[in-house]
Amino acid sequence: GTPASKSTEMVTLTIDGFDVTVPEGTSVMRASAEAGIQVPKLCATDSVEAFGSCRLCVVEIEGRRGTPASCTTPVTPGMVVKTQSSKVKKIRKGVMELYISDHPLDCLTCAANGDCELQDMAGMVGLRDVRYEAVANHFEARDNSGDVNTQFIPKDDSNPYFTYDPAKCIVCSRCVRACEEVQGTFALTIEGMGFNSRVSAGAAGDDFLSSDCVSCGACVQACPTATLQEKSVIEMGTPERSVITTCAYCGVGCSFKAE
Ligand code: FES
Repeated sequence: GTPASKSTEMVTLTIDGFDVTVPEGTSVMRASAEAGIQVPKLCATDSVEAFGSCRLCVVEIEGRRGTPASCTTPVTPGMVVKTQSSKVKKIRKGVMELYISDHPLDCLTCAANGDCELQDMAGMVGLRDVRYEAVANHFEARDNSGDVNTQFIPKDDSNPYFTYDPAKCIVCSRCVRACEEVQGTFALTIEGMGFNSRVSAGAAGDDFLSSDCVSCGACVQACPTATLQEKSVIEMGTPERSVITTCAYCGVGCSFKAE
């Protein structure tokens, strides 16, 4: 969901007909989770501040126009929320369809297969078909007619521990926020606009190794797809069990993975 509120004041609201009482400042998404209701999401996590960019978590709130993002909407007393109306389900499916239409369809050979939030969310919103004709992903070397794609950005293999594949990036900015909020390094940014926006490590042309990245792994842990992927997972596959440990030296938490 989203980070927990530290407030001691409590607020009661209704979500899908259930009364829920949570600390003031809690997001509607987190309050839903407390009530056992899972709202689809891609850009929100428990560990970084909500950003509201993916629009997958939209809900209806009585008395409010539109469909606000549940991750960036704080609860208010007496609020009445619908998380499963046909209207929001349709919006979520449409949003997911757009994501998938600009994403490589190589799930079966992708290192994140079975451990990919994009895959999970596509299933959760019930997406079965994509109506939009596949076009050359703007991160592919050549477009559909075989011409050189001037927007092409190759995979960055420079870091010894992980790879960065721009073709799989959904620009949720979880990595950028993890770098800033968890590690305090500010090595990553989003550059470009609209269709051409992407995550970048420092100045144009910089790769991860020559950037300010300290290889802490916070961005890799935050990534919901295989955009930032541990090389060990690419080489050895996804382990059956993983344990996150934290020590006094940093707030990231090291992944210890066992077969
Ligand atoms: Fe709320 Fe992405 S999870 S907008």
